[in-house]
Amino acid sequence: MAKEGASNTDTMEKLVSLCKRRGFIFQSSEIYNGLNGCWDYGPLGVELKRNVKEAWYQAVVRDRDDVVPIDCSILMNRRVWQASGHEKCFTDPMVDCKGCQKRYRADKVRMHYLLAGAEVLWKHAYEGDDPADFDKISKSVRKSYDHLRNQHKAALDSGAAADADYLVSQAPAGLPRICPECGGELTEARLFNLMFKTYVGPAEDSATMTYLRPETAQGIFANFKNVCDSGRVRIPFGIAQIGKAFRNEITPRNFTFRSREFEQMEIEFFCKPGTDMEWYAHWVGERKKWYAALGMREENLRFREHAKEELAHYARGCTDVEYKFPFGWGELEGIANRTDFDLKAHGEAAGRDLSYFDDETKERFIPYVIEPSAGADRSTLAFLCDAYHEDMAPDEKGQMQPRVVLRFHPRLAPTKVAVFPLVRKDGMPEKAEAIFRALKKHMSAFYDEKGAVGRRYRRQDEAGTPYCLTVDGQTLQDDTVTLRDRDTMTQTRLPAAGIVQYIRDKVGV
Ligand code: GAP
Repeated sequence: MAKEGASNTDTMEKLVSLCKRRGFIFQSSEIYNGLNGCWDYGPLGVELKRNVKEAWYQAVVRDRDDVVPIDCSILMNRRVWQASGHEKCFTDPMVDCKGCQKRYRADKVRMHYLLAGAEVLWKHAYEGDDPADFDKISKSVRKSYDHLRNQHKAALDSGAAADADYLVSQAPAGLPRICPECGGELTEARLFNLMFKTYVGPAEDSATMTYLRPETAQGIFANFKNVCDSGRVRIPFGIAQIGKAFRNEITPRNFTFRSREFEQMEIEFFCKPGTDMEWYAHWVGERKKWYAALGMREENLRFREHAKEELAHYARGCTDVEYKFPFGWGELEGIANRTDFDLKAHGEAAGRDLSYFDDETKERFIPYVIEPSAGADRSTLAFLCDAYHEDMAPDEKGQMQPRVVLRFHPRLAPTKVAVFPLVRKDGMPEKAEAIFRALKKHMSAFYDEKGAVGRRYRRQDEAGTPYCLTVDGQTLQDDTVTLRDRDTMTQTRLPAAGIVQYIRDKVGV
């Protein structure tokens, strides 16, 4: 990710600043001081995220014969969210600090408490501020603190980022509740539904109320029968969708990682009960291959299978795909065996038969569902983190200088090639522009004639452009150009004739 020695906070700060400077990601409504949890993609960010989504679509729809796409509306009948269980259960427990008014997710505060709040309590107690508090902590709870604090320290010492979610799951219940920031008293936990409410039509009452979808999956279940009846599919088959989802997260954080508006890339794969565990294993394998094919570094990726006790009551298996972000391990995707839970729930609530009749075996059944559900924004952020490198590169005078380079896989790179005339005279701009126009028909290309060529290379390194093509004095004599490789920084002289096809082959477009 970053060079050795750079702290993880540093890396994240540098990445956020690079994203703004180079037009990958901006804070939403920034000129009005922003809107927490919302982000805008700039010119390079749009290309990058689009490439991520296209790579996903290519792998799960176009390269297969058994997955079809769908594009559902964001607004759906409220009954969808009642049947799916979201209206009742899509909640996070929330607590407020009575002192500083900060708001936290109750499960996170337990962790904060362990890692930071405990320090406050300890300090107060030892300094004799309120010894009674100290006594309130039972011996066993204190032991648990120590155990967790040691685990956390060991994780940090070994260079692994602390996996907060894992540690939270280990935190003992019944901890005294104090604010991790100020040590103030916290309110009782209240359940907070994460769905954004809205009204359809002019009247704002319960009859017109619905929600912005918090996931794309339910649109797929609601259309299962439509897709079956359209005659293109036979079980086993999947339906794939890319689209926006909205969650009123209590504490959006870590750049785009936890946003209130984001995009998902979801598949619901329907299969015959009994074959479900095989298909579950198949999808875990396929998704592994996808991240690897796009160059995500093995040491930064892990597939974490849930223990039986962690599974939802209806699920038969779940694997989280996690990436080692500078701020710790975070989930990119969940791959779940959801059995027949969703189709059954919608069938019952809607009063429709959502079973499937296999006309070869003459069997009727409610299909089981394997759900690989990925986040487009989280994957994009992971690919950005994975690509971020700092190294040394020679400047125009041959002096080594620090360089920031985004080493994207060529398929993901927002710009595939940049074209430069060495100087703005002697017919070089005209020749360079002609090559640029020819390249642009096939890929995202960038033309730049301003400033020293070394500086232009560096700007493209920061944008993650794999190749820079330069037209120079020799081009005018023998019709050759130089092609500079972003990663090796070597320059190869090649004939201008055929250069478009050569670069297309290199970047795979
Ligand atoms: N249909 C299943 C489902 O929605 P999920 O684990 O809640 O499962 C799937 O979400 C993926 O969506 C996550 O792995 C993550 O990549 C992305 N995601 C969820 N909440 C997000 C948020 N607040 N911000 C950005 N991405 C999010």
